[in-house]
Amino acid sequence: MHNNESNIMNYETVTLNELDDNNSELVILDQTRLPGEIKFLHLQDINSIRQAIYLLQVRGAPAIGVAAAFGIYIAAKNINTEIYSEFLSQFRKFKEYLNSARPTAVNLSWALTRMEQVIINNQDKSIHEIKNLLRLEALAIKSEDAEMCRKIGEHGLTLIKDGDGILTHCNAGQLATAKYGTALAPIHLGRERGMNFHVYCDETRPLLQGARLSAFELISDGVDTILICDNMASQVMKNGWVNAVFVGCDRVASNGDACNKIGTSGVAILAKYYNIPFYVLGPTSTIDMSIKTGNEIIIERRPPEEITQMWYQKRMAPEGVKVYNPAFDVTSHELITAIITEHGIARPPYTQSLREIFERKE
Ligand code: MRU
Repeated sequence: MHNNESNIMNYETVTLNELDDNNSELVILDQTRLPGEIKFLHLQDINSIRQAIYLLQVRGAPAIGVAAAFGIYIAAKNINTEIYSEFLSQFRKFKEYLNSARPTAVNLSWALTRMEQVIINNQDKSIHEIKNLLRLEALAIKSEDAEMCRKIGEHGLTLIKDGDGILTHCNAGQLATAKYGTALAPIHLGRERGMNFHVYCDETRPLLQGARLSAFELISDGVDTILICDNMASQVMKNGWVNAVFVGCDRVASNGDACNKIGTSGVAILAKYYNIPFYVLGPTSTIDMSIKTGNEIIIERRPPEEITQMWYQKRMAPEGVKVYNPAFDVTSHELITAIITEHGIARPPYTQSLREIFERKE
């Protein structure tokens, strides 16, 4: 429907730009400006990279991981020492700093730890060589993400058929990953194959990732897209318009409890009531096998202004009102029909099926 320049599907969410031997920049599509404006940020220092993650200029669990990997590479490149121990200690400070930007999505610490491992595994190499290996690792994290999302899309497509109605919450689409997305990967892949779906996008208060991002990328891909307010999901399910719910995830515990954008657990409860399958789609990098249940997940709390005034011409809520603004919630494994990863589809009991997925992976 759009020409190439305005079609958001033709843009990359996160890229690394090597300016010269000493300087690199992280280029991100500023998601806070979408859909009104397609604008890129060129970030060269760790403070602005951390800030971009905190402000959700780059967001979505896999995209945050990729941005952090590029970000720490850029920071490491500027560490001015030839002494291994000094290099590692400075790197760890940067790692902690970036990791503190957002607590919930495990991909952030997963990507940073993977980068740190490169340094630990190459103690015999020069700092110059280690810096180059860090660059290659960050690029690998990005290209693997695109590959994983494609595979998630393949597995997800086996669960739906042409013409189905799908409800989604937040944005777990291409904008949240290196390509395709997770929850939206089957839809985009289906489009490549000439299939059509009717996708109901929850607007996803308070930051409207559903209205601003999912609806935008789905329309750009020619998908029949219907935007609804969060409190309308029950009605469209009751109408019989939803054949399946597809959502992404920010951290999945080893028992299958899945943490995702606030409101997801409510959608899962509705889906159970209406007997609609509820699927969580995500790469294995989002599964945290080190935690037993979702109770161990730290839920990010965000500023009250996101609720009281951010999207209104004038402040909407009374001054002084107390606000509770958690960014995520945990959906109990009991409400999840299946978890779709790049290595296949896990079904209950998840303690067993997720372990098998990880064994298959190794
Ligand atoms: O606060 P956000 O926009 O980063 O939250 C994003 C989500 O909750 C997504 O559903 C999740 O990260 C999966 S993205 C493939």
